[in-house]
Amino acid sequence: MTSEKLALITGVSREMGLGYETAKQLKELGYKVIITAREFEKVKELAEKINVIAMALDITDDQSVEQLAHYIEKQFGKLDVLVNNAGAFFDQDGEPLSADIQFIKEAIDTNLLGAWRMIKSFEPLLRKSENGRIVNVSSGAGSFGDPVFGLANHFSKVPVYGITKLALNGLTVKLARQLKDTKIKINSVDPGFTATYAGTENYGARPVSEGAKSVIWAVTIPDNGPSGGFFRDGETLSW
Ligand SMILES: NC(=O)c1ccc[n+]([C@@H]2O[C@H](COP(=O)([O-])OP(=O)(O)OC[C@H]3O[C@@H](n4cnc5c(N)ncnc54)[C@H](OP(=O)(O)O)[C@@H]3O)[C@@H](O)[C@H]2O)c1
Repeated sequence: MTSEKLALITGVSREMGLGYETAKQLKELGYKVIITAREFEKVKELAEKINVIAMALDITDDQSVEQLAHYIEKQFGKLDVLVNNAGAFFDQDGEPLSADIQFIKEAIDTNLLGAWRMIKSFEPLLRKSENGRIVNVSSGAGSFGDPVFGLANHFSKVPVYGITKLALNGLTVKLARQLKDTKIKINSVDPGFTATYAGTENYGARPVSEGAKSVIWAVTIPDNGPSGGFFRDGETLSW
């Protein structure tokens, strides 16, 4: 079993993305990092830039998830950190009544069930860590209380995306309850509106280095830190 802390991050296919920045920051903190995404060539190119491990992973595919869990078990014998960063289906200006059912199903399969699948498959390996940490990358769009992006703000749309993140937060709570007698801590984090796509900084998005800090905070919480919470920048967010 490796003595280094091993972190696995999903959804790392873009240099501007939060997943890549999280990998970079964890690497700087001394973690051994595995980055993953559907298209291996993209992950490999990014991994080479920061000297981390690249693996192909589709979080909607049971077999792909199981194969990776098997590989990590064989190679490393444990996992210390799982960052469920992969997420998509941002239905900007969408409305619930006009949302396409197939789109909704796919959004749930990625944003909710993708994280759920990952946790089910990697929980045995996380249990072998002295300080297992699961971070579900959620969003203010899944919160009732967020004044800008929240579900109760009638100017904020993204209904499908928001509801999948709301459900992801629910999963975090239920898992924290089930894992309360283990060394594993699980939290949801909102990175805040972050400039992972060109031009969004003009609408107030913050630098990706800052957005990723919310994730890093939850990865590095101490053993007496919280579990089952929802945070941005280490501060509790209302559900
Ligand atoms: N940027 C923001 O303002 C913001 C705010 C709040 C929350 N978030 C959350 O932060 C996370 C990262 O977002 P981002 O802004 O950095 O955008 P991003 O770069 O587009 O990240 C999303 C990643 O998810 C991957 N992905 C999608 N479906 C997948 C699947 N089935 N299996 C594996 N990977 C899959 C995408 O890879 P492919 O190339 O394979 O599609 C992509 O790498 C997301 O969960 C997002 O909801 C972002």
